[in-house]
Amino acid sequence: MIVNVENPVLEIHDLTVTYSRKPVLWGVDLTLPKGSLVGIIGPNGAGKSTLIKAAMDLIPKSSGWVEIFGEDLKKVRKKISYVPQRESVDWDFPASVRDVVVMGRYADIGLFKRPRKADYEAADYALKQVKLSEFSNRQISQLSGGQQQRVFLARALAQQADLYFMDEPFAGVDAATEKAIINILKQMSEQGKTVVVVHHDLQTVTKYFDWLVQLNTRLVASGPIEQVFTQELLQETYGGKLTLLSDVSTLMHTQQLPVRDKT
Ligand SMILES: Nc1ncnc2c1ncn2[C@@H]1O[C@H](COP(=O)(O)OP(=O)(O)OP(=O)(O)O)[C@@H](O)[C@H]1O
Ligand SMILES: [Mg+2]
Repeated sequence: MIVNVENPVLEIHDLTVTYSRKPVLWGVDLTLPKGSLVGIIGPNGAGKSTLIKAAMDLIPKSSGWVEIFGEDLKKVRKKISYVPQRESVDWDFPASVRDVVVMGRYADIGLFKRPRKADYEAADYALKQVKLSEFSNRQISQLSGGQQQRVFLARALAQQADLYFMDEPFAGVDAATEKAIINILKQMSEQGKTVVVVHHDLQTVTKYFDWLVQLNTRLVASGPIEQVFTQELLQETYGGKLTLLSDVSTLMHTQQLPVRDKT
């Protein structure tokens, strides 16, 4: 089931991406509404990170196009923030936590200008939001995995973008921090910002997101959560793997969603 929206924030048309001739995304058509908090789910290797990278123009497309705010990405890059999957980042980079977060402002500052007071204020506020103020002068390499993840979130928050792509922001983050972060993301979407999050925990999907994208090389579903978080579509996305993840009927029950029978 694929629900399309008018005047989407993100529009992807017929996107195919191949690595060494093997398609990892196949004919993906997708639109996302403004102000939504979007979850992207699918098994390992489904192409979730690839979808975000292709939307950000970080990898070549075999076919298809992407428009963000109705424009080519080049024109709107400043309005977009990207938090990569943690494993893909080189954490030995010699910089303090505060410097890394201030770098989130560079799109605004311009490459050869120095950050100003307002930039440091935005960075400090973002660090406070992710509860890392006390680590502000630490070297980024000296933090724990979950703390590093929070630094990257702070960097994205400081950027004050309109569209956020976050690739597994909760990986390795403790429960209290996850809760704090999801509350920040909810506030952002209430302010009209669109937040797209790659997520693995099916137990929290309906609590966190209002729009859900289910991916497995092909786009299986995209739509309001109550329409697409169904046993059938989850089964199609995860195949036999779903039973390993959790018992589907229990999942439906705990999320208090009706299990739809095929009619
Ligand atoms: N640079 C690359 N070169 C070759 N193959 C790649 C490359 N990056 C990703 N792939 C392959 O593309 C497929 C999709 O990868 P991707 O990282 O998008 O999956 P994912 O859904 O994000 O998975 P995960 O849940 O593990 O993060 C995988 O089979 C992966 O092995
Ligand atoms: Mg990934």
